[in-house]
Amino acid sequence: MQKIIILDFGSQYTQLIARRIRELDTYCEILPYNKFPAETEDVIGVILSGSPYSVNDPKALEIDLSPIRGKFPLLGICYGAQYLAKNDGGTVESSNTREYGKARLVWHDNQDPLMHGIRDNSVVWMSHGDSITHTPDSFHNVGSTADVKNAAFRIGDEKTWGVQFHPEVYHSEDGLIILGNFVRDICGSNSDWTPESFIESTVERLREQVGDDKVVLALSGGVDSTVAAVLLNKAIGNNLTCIFVDNGLLRLNEFDDVLRSYSDMGLNVIGVDAKEEFYNALKGETDPEKKRKIIGKGFIDIFDREAHKLKDIKWLAQGTIYPDVIESLSITGMVIKSHHNVGGLPEKMNLRLVEPLRLLFKDEVRRVGRQLGISPTLIGRHPFPGPGLGVRILGDITPDKVRILQEADHIYIQALRDWGLYDKVWQAGTILTPIRSVGVMGDERTYENVVALRAVNSTDGMTATWTPLPHDFLAEVSNNIIRKVRGVNRVVYDISSKPPSTIEWE
Ligand code: XMP
Repeated sequence: MQKIIILDFGSQYTQLIARRIRELDTYCEILPYNKFPAETEDVIGVILSGSPYSVNDPKALEIDLSPIRGKFPLLGICYGAQYLAKNDGGTVESSNTREYGKARLVWHDNQDPLMHGIRDNSVVWMSHGDSITHTPDSFHNVGSTADVKNAAFRIGDEKTWGVQFHPEVYHSEDGLIILGNFVRDICGSNSDWTPESFIESTVERLREQVGDDKVVLALSGGVDSTVAAVLLNKAIGNNLTCIFVDNGLLRLNEFDDVLRSYSDMGLNVIGVDAKEEFYNALKGETDPEKKRKIIGKGFIDIFDREAHKLKDIKWLAQGTIYPDVIESLSITGMVIKSHHNVGGLPEKMNLRLVEPLRLLFKDEVRRVGRQLGISPTLIGRHPFPGPGLGVRILGDITPDKVRILQEADHIYIQALRDWGLYDKVWQAGTILTPIRSVGVMGDERTYENVVALRAVNSTDGMTATWTPLPHDFLAEVSNNIIRKVRGVNRVVYDISSKPPSTIEWE
């Protein structure tokens, strides 16, 4: 399959470049800046990303461009463009007017293939402190902004371009057209990266990889593990066994509902009721990190035990997706992921790993899931943390607190669906606080718990803003929870965004 290689110099936007190129139905891979592959048969073009460094920095990241320049179409973005200029004898200087944010681009060459269909004066997103102040004679200036003369250039007749702005960022109005011109017209992509082609090639590859071996997979009820399971099932049928563990911290009825829908999909799935084990292990524990560790370890132990009851298992399948893979490649080492639920499982089980989704972004997982015929309700489910309601019951966990939270949460989530709000919210959940407050019900004084409702909008969970749900809706939910859930006499709405708050309360 054709591919574009994105060499990563550490920019916060590198993932976004890849997502945008995938949106153009073209497969691409992010590689560390100095790891251009020796095997280039399928490579149709190369992109040099931005970077937190300046090209003039003594620690600037440098590469040998000789295997790339003139051999593949090449686009340098921001640092990538400045690196191309400096490499050819141009001058890059720290600019007096640091350009951040929106600027308007004026194109100088209507014939340039990178700019077909771009409106003059369209907004582009700038984010750098350096600027190319002098370009060699071989450079052809194709676009400027008010403050940056060499905003876009082509080098001679080579298929090499540089842009000092970020076409991949959504604020760049015609950014996707620029990337489309590069990927389709200049690199010649035939747009063969589609859910259908992914499914076909993955099923074939899985059959080759796994052969007649037996595979075990942990289902969580979430999108990634479900899509991974359905793909593997398509490839190897009943040689795949899925295990779904009830840790007692799932949503109301979730264990039964999800198990039923997995069976309906034809998956070979074992449900394990381990509620008591988890409640016993968690008894009296109030420290959030320790609770997470207990839940994580409990899961690994139970999964390991159940998997060993099966015969001849050779492989462990996981629903790892591309952002996790990229993170582990991170060249600057700045990103730290703290939510590895099943980290440690492969080591413990000593099985070979198969990860059918490791090349996909989340939105691509959903597209593949839809193509595989998985129900829209399952595909559209909000993210749910591995430790489940365990991080939404503040303080120690008891079966009765789980019951209270499950009932309140069910009313909230069902109301979101009934009001047509569920799909407009990225994630919603209910939190049981350890605070008790005084209330009055009928003639009786009550002294019961406070429940908090949370809803956020986000694209990847890294940042999030609280969702302004309609007041009428909140009033109805609050009313119903207080009326119907024994143990709750007050409901509050969380109006904190991330950062500085997090999405989960623990
Ligand atoms: P925070 O609370 O860090 O959450 O803002 C960001 C996103 O990650 C989810 N989350 C988890 N997911 N295991 C998971 O699989 C975890 O331990 C975990 N903790 C938080 C959270 O629900 C949100 O979507």
